[in-house]
Amino acid sequence: MTSAEIPLDDLLREDRRFPPPEGFSERALVSDPAVYEEAEADHEAYWARWAGELDWFEPWEKVLEWDPPHARWFTGGKLNVAYNCLDRHLDGPRRNKAALIWEGEPGDVRTYTYWDLHREVSQLANGLRELGVKKGDRVAIYLPMVPEAAISMLACARIGAIHSVVFGGFSPNSLADRINDAQAKVLITADGGYRRGNVIPLKRNADDALERTPSIEHVVVVARGWNIARTTQTSLKPGRDLWYHDLIRGVPTKCQAEPMEAEDHLFVLYTSGTTGKPKGVVHSTGGYLTQAYATTKWVFDLQEDDVYWCTADVGWITGHSYIVYGPLANGATMVMYEGAPDFPHRGRFWELCEKYGVTVFYTAPTAVRAFMKWGEEWPARYDLGQLRLLGSVGEPINPEAWVWYHRHIGRDRCPIVDTWWQTETGAIMITPLPGVTETAPGSATRPFPGIRATLFNESGEETRSGYLAITRPWPSMLRGIWGDEERFRKTYWSKWEDPGIYFAGDGAKVDDDGYFWVLGRVDDVLNVAGHRIGTSEVESALVDHPAVAEAAVVGKTDPVKGQAVAAFVTLREGKEPSAELVVALQTHVAEVIGAIARPQQILFSADLPKTRSGKIMRRLLRDIAEGKALGDTTTLADPNVVERLKRRYEESGNGGG
Ligand code: WTA
Repeated sequence: MTSAEIPLDDLLREDRRFPPPEGFSERALVSDPAVYEEAEADHEAYWARWAGELDWFEPWEKVLEWDPPHARWFTGGKLNVAYNCLDRHLDGPRRNKAALIWEGEPGDVRTYTYWDLHREVSQLANGLRELGVKKGDRVAIYLPMVPEAAISMLACARIGAIHSVVFGGFSPNSLADRINDAQAKVLITADGGYRRGNVIPLKRNADDALERTPSIEHVVVVARGWNIARTTQTSLKPGRDLWYHDLIRGVPTKCQAEPMEAEDHLFVLYTSGTTGKPKGVVHSTGGYLTQAYATTKWVFDLQEDDVYWCTADVGWITGHSYIVYGPLANGATMVMYEGAPDFPHRGRFWELCEKYGVTVFYTAPTAVRAFMKWGEEWPARYDLGQLRLLGSVGEPINPEAWVWYHRHIGRDRCPIVDTWWQTETGAIMITPLPGVTETAPGSATRPFPGIRATLFNESGEETRSGYLAITRPWPSMLRGIWGDEERFRKTYWSKWEDPGIYFAGDGAKVDDDGYFWVLGRVDDVLNVAGHRIGTSEVESALVDHPAVAEAAVVGKTDPVKGQAVAAFVTLREGKEPSAELVVALQTHVAEVIGAIARPQQILFSADLPKTRSGKIMRRLLRDIAEGKALGDTTTLADPNVVERLKRRYEESGNGGG
């Protein structure tokens, strides 16, 4: 989409406003709008004040060195992320505070105090060192939502190893690609994990991937449950694989935290882009932790007695910044849950909120829309009286879902923080401050203090409706794409002449109050249930099937997932369309990438609409998938192709898939 194509008609006309509820601001950590001006007055001093709330082994010399597009924050400073998340809480009453309250899908519970977490992280860190993991080495983590996921990340941080967490729903193929790109030395996985009563056989998937990952020297396997090990036929390869519990057994509970340079890498996290190959987004130590810490504290108004629950998976950036690093750096108590929201019943989340007295709840619009669909009777059965703040992340939240969330979960008492950010930004960028901001359903409102964002048109002029751009470096900004400097520059810093302006890939508008309304991606990236999926990734997976000659993938509006994957496929000579082939192609994509990328609809077509230069006109395919009137077709090489396709699409009962 170009800026001219952002659907202006669809822009939200929403004039409801919600000031902070009565009594909220009085108790909030920040209630004075002056924080915005104070940050603007000297943004480096402002971020330095935040960094000063962390523990440093050596002070930094310079707050910011900016050589676009490369920023270096807090240079000369030394710190350790795990130390900041654990050790510094051990000297006072937080020592015995619950850091992590975990519940498995079957209902098993484990609670770790800060002391407990520190002990196990230290043991695993020592264990990893024994396996030969050194500072700067990469460790891949492929785990379900179990405490060991957070512990593994922190253990890596403790010894300065760079972790690469791979979402447990990804296929062996996706796992292998990510391991190989980062050349990971160790893989931490599990015998299995529960999802809707089933056991996902992670180790078996990993074994498949491990056949083509020569860099892996050892595999550490978490026993999620002994019965799981049996049902998933988990086997360990002698010399390479070992059980997690064996690795940490009898290992010293003290482990020196490696003093890291502020700019040393903390992790890489792969995300989809506009090519078939996912990008390894690289994050730093000092800057990343500073902004993750600051935003967790102010956006979630995180106070000592809060019980905070972010429902994301640790495999995504939200899990990194707002399950692990932000909350623990703040010394919070958090809830972590292994399973699905509708298993064994659709009130599972509310049951957990009631049971643990959750006060701050952070989830995704796709989940809110699912809750809406299931009906308000589910949350109505539970006491949600402890909730005081709600959050949303991952995609635009439609005002209807926002208002439902406010009424049926927040019971009209809780502010909603709609937080806009990305894997690349590392931490929240545009968001309300719950004690300050009057919220508007569907708007992420204003940039966080110290962040500067604006909208540009194609030629780099400021506009009220256009491309979202970040115009000043921020501490948790990505430091690069793993092994691909060229792609880093091209993707994010080359949209406009000024090499210091970050192109986010989203379209947005700004209203008279300066509020941002993010509309969605303007590139070939879909947002399916809050997960980023590159259309070209799915296309490559389809073309990889022996029956397929060519494929074009677009997003189609979906009432719950936001977008669903729709594919237009041209078959090879001699291959015939069939319902079986639709299923075979859907399964193939799920096997190549992961179930989240499975096309919901597949339409076979002898041709795809192309420009005279041979470029597939996705805009037209989107119109077809959405059932819209066709836009301008004059640049097509053969305008009849698209008319035929549209007719077939309609005849097939909306997609044939
Ligand atoms: C979208 C997730 C509107 C956006 C943290 C962005 C949002 C992409 C919001 C990043 C929001 C995220 N309102 N859109 N509050 N939050 N997005 O990297 O398109 O998985 O570019 O990071 O999600 O997705 P990612």
